[in-house]
Amino acid sequence: MSKSKLFEEVDFGPIRLSNRIVMAPLTRSRATSDGVPKAMHVEYYRQRASAGLIISEATNISVEGRGYAWTPGIYSDEQVAAWKKVTDAVHAEGGRIFLQLWHVGRISHPDLQPNGAAPVSASAVKPSGKAFTEEGFKDHETPRALEEAELPRVTEDYVKATKNARAAGFDGVEVHSANGYLLDQFLRDGTNLRTDRYGGSIENRMRFPLEVLDAVIATWDKEHVGIRISPVTVMGGSSESDQQRLFNAYVEEIAKRQPIYLHVIEGQTGGDRGKDGFDYDALRQRFDGLYMGNNNYDLDLAVKQLDAGEVDLVCFGKPFISNPDLVARLQLGAPLNAWDQATFYGGDEKGLTDYPALTPEERARYAA
Ligand SMILES: Cc1cc2nc3c(=O)[nH]c(=O)nc-3n(C[C@H](O)[C@H](O)[C@H](O)COP(=O)(O)O)c2cc1C
Repeated sequence: MSKSKLFEEVDFGPIRLSNRIVMAPLTRSRATSDGVPKAMHVEYYRQRASAGLIISEATNISVEGRGYAWTPGIYSDEQVAAWKKVTDAVHAEGGRIFLQLWHVGRISHPDLQPNGAAPVSASAVKPSGKAFTEEGFKDHETPRALEEAELPRVTEDYVKATKNARAAGFDGVEVHSANGYLLDQFLRDGTNLRTDRYGGSIENRMRFPLEVLDAVIATWDKEHVGIRISPVTVMGGSSESDQQRLFNAYVEEIAKRQPIYLHVIEGQTGGDRGKDGFDYDALRQRFDGLYMGNNNYDLDLAVKQLDAGEVDLVCFGKPFISNPDLVARLQLGAPLNAWDQATFYGGDEKGLTDYPALTPEERARYAA
């Protein structure tokens, strides 16, 4: 049985987490067409409550923020009531859960937008690839650049979503500033071609994401807000001419706001880690709160990085899809169930709530 501090309690602002293992935000596209989580969501998250912290699947802050069919939202009373059942179930098991606040920006399609409008972004730069609509995959279209006068409205959607997440019983919120979505679109010079105060210099490109972070922290407080970034991930053809300089500067600004954690996807999201020459330590050195590492971690790497002081929390994605009792399996050195990619997105309970946990007999056998 592993005795690593991975499995020990850790202070987390006003609360304590029962271990340093975090369940990654994982979109599963199984909510109703109106973005309301179902009974199977309650069971799915309940099964995974032994994680020190769960981060919910990315959750739309508004209809405009939506880019994938059947993803949940946090803008209607019905959604808040449905999420309350999820947070109650996780808390009843002794778990903790944050909600990931999502606005996809240009990674959407008119079919998913209010009145069939064009998706919005920092600039009118069309993404490559296809959107996942209720009628299947459709080519992305050119987004409409948000006007400066509209930005407070979008920030206000983040504020309302934060209030709603709090009302739904979440332990905090994670600002999704990763993976090529709206805030990442503002950061990068490949997707932000603006000539106003929100474009051009790094300082200008960071302005809107930081305004959002400030507003979310002002709505709750810094101990209930984390933020996720993916410095080298290219999605939908997004690009950046100087990733290190941009993200060093961004993390310096984030650090001034002291969110409870900085969540860093190291390497290409879902792909290789550490082959891009990016200096993640430079980010760690700029942030003195809790540093959460993610991407392709296994037990060995998690223990190694934690022992070396490279990370404070380790976030696992796909292993949590197929192993509801991932924490126990890692601690016991038990084998992990393989995940089935075919059931990642959409569908029903299959591939969501039917992965087996270890039986009491199996647990006893691995503990011996
Ligand atoms: C099915 C699936 C859904 C995902 N959904 C989200 C999401 O909603 N928000 C997000 O920030 N990342 C999302 N990701 C990325 C994961 O959070 C994570 O960064 C990635 O899987 C790498 O971690 P892993 O190697 O432990 O799986 C998703 C990944 C997968 C496989």
